[in-house]
Amino acid sequence: SNKSRVTVVGSGNWGSVASKLIASNTLKLGSFHDEVRMWVYEETLPSGEKLTDVINRTNENVKYLPGIKLGKNVIADPDLENAVRDANMLVFVTPHQFMEGICKRLIGKIKKGAEAISLIKGMEVKMEGPCMISTLISEQLNVNCCVLMGANIANEIAVEKFSEATVGYRENREIAERWVQLFSTPYFMVTAVQDVEGVELCGTLKNVVALAAGFVDGLEMGNNTKAAVMRIGLREMRVFSKLLFSSVKDNTFFESCGVADLITTCLGGRNRKVAEAFARNGGKRSFDELEEEMLQGQKLQVDTRVSLSRAIDHIYFLVFSSYLKGVSTAKEVYEVLRNRGWLELFPLFATVHEIAIGRLPPSAIVEYSEHKPSFV
Ligand code: NAD
Ligand code: 13P
Repeated sequence: SNKSRVTVVGSGNWGSVASKLIASNTLKLGSFHDEVRMWVYEETLPSGEKLTDVINRTNENVKYLPGIKLGKNVIADPDLENAVRDANMLVFVTPHQFMEGICKRLIGKIKKGAEAISLIKGMEVKMEGPCMISTLISEQLNVNCCVLMGANIANEIAVEKFSEATVGYRENREIAERWVQLFSTPYFMVTAVQDVEGVELCGTLKNVVALAAGFVDGLEMGNNTKAAVMRIGLREMRVFSKLLFSSVKDNTFFESCGVADLITTCLGGRNRKVAEAFARNGGKRSFDELEEEMLQGQKLQVDTRVSLSRAIDHIYFLVFSSYLKGVSTAKEVYEVLRNRGWLELFPLFATVHEIAIGRLPPSAIVEYSEHKPSFV
């Protein structure tokens, strides 16, 4: 038949929610096979059981999304090659540092003509320029790769609160519409734009701005200052993206992946949260130390709560516990800026990094405007 088979590569917090969204649609839409295969990086739970077995028995990812039914048509599979073998549509949603290894294992194992999409935020920005995850996937596996980004805190979508997302595509509008169809639900509204790089850069760069927003919160500077930092950050996101890829479109920054993801991350994100604590301590304690400590706090909370609120806290703890992308992205962006002689053009990005490494005090976040960018 010409029904599409979907496989989700990744089963963390967002990966599990993505599987749930997709599984609700494959049941409804005749052009997809009902079954959604979800590759699980296998681990043994404290009970001694395998995570995959528990997901298949209870229909819940008890470790990364406890309390949420995924849909009976989600089948967890610990065997990566087996999971992708028959798939026409591949959804990549792992933490970005694992993608290089996963791609290597998948070379030659993907079905001919398969389509891919990346939900992964936090690409690597190297000296030579940024290494986009969608580019890594399409080059290594010889597939077309779209991206999906947006104001999407996974825990909120898991409990079906309304949000939006943006699909970025390169050329083929029909493929993009197919992805939109696969992800859209009444509480998850997806729009497609022809701008893969713009969408993907938005998802990464907003984490740097979230640190700046956190510093402002920690210094208790108020809403006007925070709004100003967000606006200036959005402008730097746009200029930086357009300097790297001339194809990037202005309108992309008004989509969910742009301004909306920036807002949700600057209001509720973990980068913001740790940056706030960093500024409260006058920059005297390192990000690593604070992350570690705030993590312990989360752990305590998790152990003393019950039921759904416990589940939500637990999810928050898990999401929070992975390393902070904003700090490493700020460093990587800084390297690009220095390498290309652009430091003066991006005072906010540059200052965030210098504060994070202790070269400048947190209060420098609003002093940077002395060096005005010359061309924006
Ligand atoms: P997560 O942060 O919950 O990460 C845990 C996942 O990593 C688990 O599935 C775990 O099994 C897996 N893992 C651990 N070690 C591994 C290894 N060696 N090889 C492969 N996998 C391994 O994951 P997530 O929240 O699903 O995030 C995936 C991507 O989605 C990230 O790029 C993130 O930025 C993005 N994202 C997350 C959210 C969110 O709210 N959580 C929202 C939007 C986008
Ligand atoms: P992280 O918490 O992994 O940065 O993702 C949250 C997010 O991107 C919200 O859209």
